[in-house]
Amino acid sequence: MPHQHGRTEDLDWSSMLETLGRADDIEADLNAQIADWLLAGDERLIYDLGCGAGGMTAALRAAAPRDSRVVAVDGEPALLAATRRRAGVETVLADLGTELPVESGSADLIWASGVIHHLPDQQAVLADLADRLAPGGRLALGEGGLHSRSLPWDLGVGEPGLELRLDAAQDRWFARMRRDLPGAVPMLDGWSTALQRAGLVDVTARSFLLDLPAPLGSRELDHVLGRLRGFADRDGREDLPEEERAVLRRVTDPEDALHRRIREDLFLLAARTVYVGRRP
Ligand SMILES: C[S@@+](CC[C@H](N)C(=O)[O-])C[C@H]1O[C@@H](n2cnc3c(N)ncnc32)[C@H](O)[C@@H]1O
Repeated sequence: MPHQHGRTEDLDWSSMLETLGRADDIEADLNAQIADWLLAGDERLIYDLGCGAGGMTAALRAAAPRDSRVVAVDGEPALLAATRRRAGVETVLADLGTELPVESGSADLIWASGVIHHLPDQQAVLADLADRLAPGGRLALGEGGLHSRSLPWDLGVGEPGLELRLDAAQDRWFARMRRDLPGAVPMLDGWSTALQRAGLVDVTARSFLLDLPAPLGSRELDHVLGRLRGFADRDGREDLPEEERAVLRRVTDPEDALHRRIREDLFLLAARTVYVGRRP
């Protein structure tokens, strides 16, 4: 039976292809650690819902039993194509806000990272996902964690502590995204309680560190600069004052003296939290 959790917001995920793919390259070790931790070795059917560019799909495929089936689901065809290239798995195009292409009682592991929070009724989706698990199957959510850190505290330009204000800007964006989702229902619990409410047991969580110290390699540097430039040109437009965005433009401009001064100090530190629960 198709579920009806409502329409999702109007984000253009295809434009994220390059960013998500670059993040997948950089986070390959991290994804491998998560997949090793998640997989028990006896899974037969595994889903990656909202697979993005397929970095975690590839990690799951590599760590899962050879004879298991791994299926990636996303609402964006370009991302599914990238996932097929990266992970070589079967893919399914679906809007998870309106359909869940997983048979009831079938899945040994469902992985969903960064996607449930884009759906209007998160608790209802979790209940639906729990129903799709085989007895003993597990639902794992990549949600929460800590925002990335990349900058020295004092850039010598503007007020120190710019990254704390980037966090606040992201928070405002997130709140607006949830508020503007048609049919959005607030989820007042944390993810652990939400998984329990969905009928799952043995609920636990673990955080994994992405720790790339300075100086960054060129691929990592591109990723960090891309994220900061995204704040300056796009993501921070409504939530960051113009003077802060101007500092970010200087930070990310290879010709700028500020960029050249701090380039060797840029780093990437982040924590990704994984919540897991098991169907009894
Ligand atoms: C933030 S990205 C996360 C990608 C990947 N799971 C990761 O953790 O890097 C969110 C993904 O969910 C997908 N997505 C968002 N809303 C969706 C929906 N309603 N139905 C299907 N996919 C959706 C997007 O296309 C995108 O690939």
